[in-house]
Amino acid sequence: MASRKKSKPAKVKAVAAADPAMIGHVKDMSLARAGKDRIEWAERNMPVLRAIRARFAKEKPFKKLRIAACLHVTTETANLMRTLKAGGAEVYLCGSNPLSTQDDVAAAMIKYYDVPTFAIKGEDHKTYYSHIVSCIEAKPQITMDDGCDLVTVLHTKMTKYLRDVFAGTEETSTGVTRLRAMAKDKKLKFPVIAINDADTKHLFDNRYGTGQSSMDGVLRATNMLVAGSTVVIAGYGWCGRGLAARAKGMGATVMVTEVDPLRALEAAMDGYIACSMEEAAPKGDLFITVTGNKSVIRREHFLAMKDGAIVCNSGHFNVELDIPSLDRLAVSKRVARPFVDEYKLKGGKRVYVLGEGRLINLAAAEGHPAMVMDMSFADQALSVEYLVKKASKLAKDVYVVPQDIDKEVARLKLKSMNVTIDTLTAEQVKYLATWSEGT
Ligand SMILES: NC(=O)c1ccc[n+]([C@@H]2O[C@H](COP(=O)([O-])OP(=O)(O)OC[C@H]3O[C@@H](n4cnc5c(N)ncnc54)[C@H](O)[C@@H]3O)[C@@H](O)[C@H]2O)c1
Repeated sequence: MASRKKSKPAKVKAVAAADPAMIGHVKDMSLARAGKDRIEWAERNMPVLRAIRARFAKEKPFKKLRIAACLHVTTETANLMRTLKAGGAEVYLCGSNPLSTQDDVAAAMIKYYDVPTFAIKGEDHKTYYSHIVSCIEAKPQITMDDGCDLVTVLHTKMTKYLRDVFAGTEETSTGVTRLRAMAKDKKLKFPVIAINDADTKHLFDNRYGTGQSSMDGVLRATNMLVAGSTVVIAGYGWCGRGLAARAKGMGATVMVTEVDPLRALEAAMDGYIACSMEEAAPKGDLFITVTGNKSVIRREHFLAMKDGAIVCNSGHFNVELDIPSLDRLAVSKRVARPFVDEYKLKGGKRVYVLGEGRLINLAAAEGHPAMVMDMSFADQALSVEYLVKKASKLAKDVYVVPQDIDKEVARLKLKSMNVTIDTLTAEQVKYLATWSEGT
């Protein structure tokens, strides 16, 4: 593995001219203290990551390793960055969505944790990409992505930096889909581990994390009463299942739209109304998309909605709602309250879009709780350790998280929750290995 002298990446803006050691681009360095307090609060609920950090601090598996991370800049991500640094890595961080950055955390990363950070909540498209560029200019050897934007820029506009990179990880479903498409086209230039595919990730993070925090985002933005309302969930994958369960638990009638017959069947047997968006559009009070697809709610659906319908998205990109067509339908638009845009259509009907159609749980709330990110980020940390040892033997493809890592994360999490489980007896091991023993 190539190593690099500790030097500042080129073209990086210093945030504090008085202290040239602090590099990055954030909103306001005076928020750093508040960010540190919140990072420490999250750390309390991340026992698995804490245990890994303590081991990394002793073993230093990442000495001089340069990692560029394009992740939601939240308190939980801060604790992952601290874990990688404890292992000896040089870490560079930028946001993976223009609206998901917690500005206090971004400032704290620079001031207290020596992590050059480039992320501002509400940054425009150009600034968002300039921040990714700054991280790539640090010449990473490992990439850590959430949605595949960093890897895409690296493979399209900054290919000369590819020579330093020997492996990467990807956090979310949409990023994994993009990477698999790259690998299929033989365009992917290094092996990537799909963190999302670990059981200790999607079974918990997507289901319980996105489920709870998306409802949290809706409530913070609108303060609506969910009980007695009709909530329409588009997509019954891991996130959709979690959202539907939370909405039902809060007293809503839940309708689920799907394109996959198996998932639609599962939704119907889980007790929801499975139907098409055309059928759901005139009935819903609140619509949440979590499909990873585009234009799931579009012109004809907006036209069919009731006055006052609330629409938002928790899938990775802001393309699930066809907002350009809503813009064309609207006779006026105004901000009704923070994170709530009111679109008035011809005839006076109003449709409310939350968080500009971006991930509602990160735009209007704080993202997933630390307790669940503990496992996803433990998968990240242990997968980087695995890649440092094994990447040279891997092809330029997308890999699942090794089972040993998945099981180890589950074991550590159970231990932190004081949950004990049974162990197979010798007799049971033998029984499970035989085929001749029946009734
Ligand atoms: N908000 C967050 O913090 C967060 C966290 C994890 C994942 N995500 C994102 O959420 C999205 C969904 O993730 P997942 O893990 O549930 O994926 P998944 O693949 O398990 O599920 C997606 C589901 O959407 C369905 N679908 C696709 N097109 C559709 C359409 N037009 N109408 C209705 N259903 C459709 C698919 O059939 C599938 O069942 C992805 O973009 C992912 O990156 C967001």
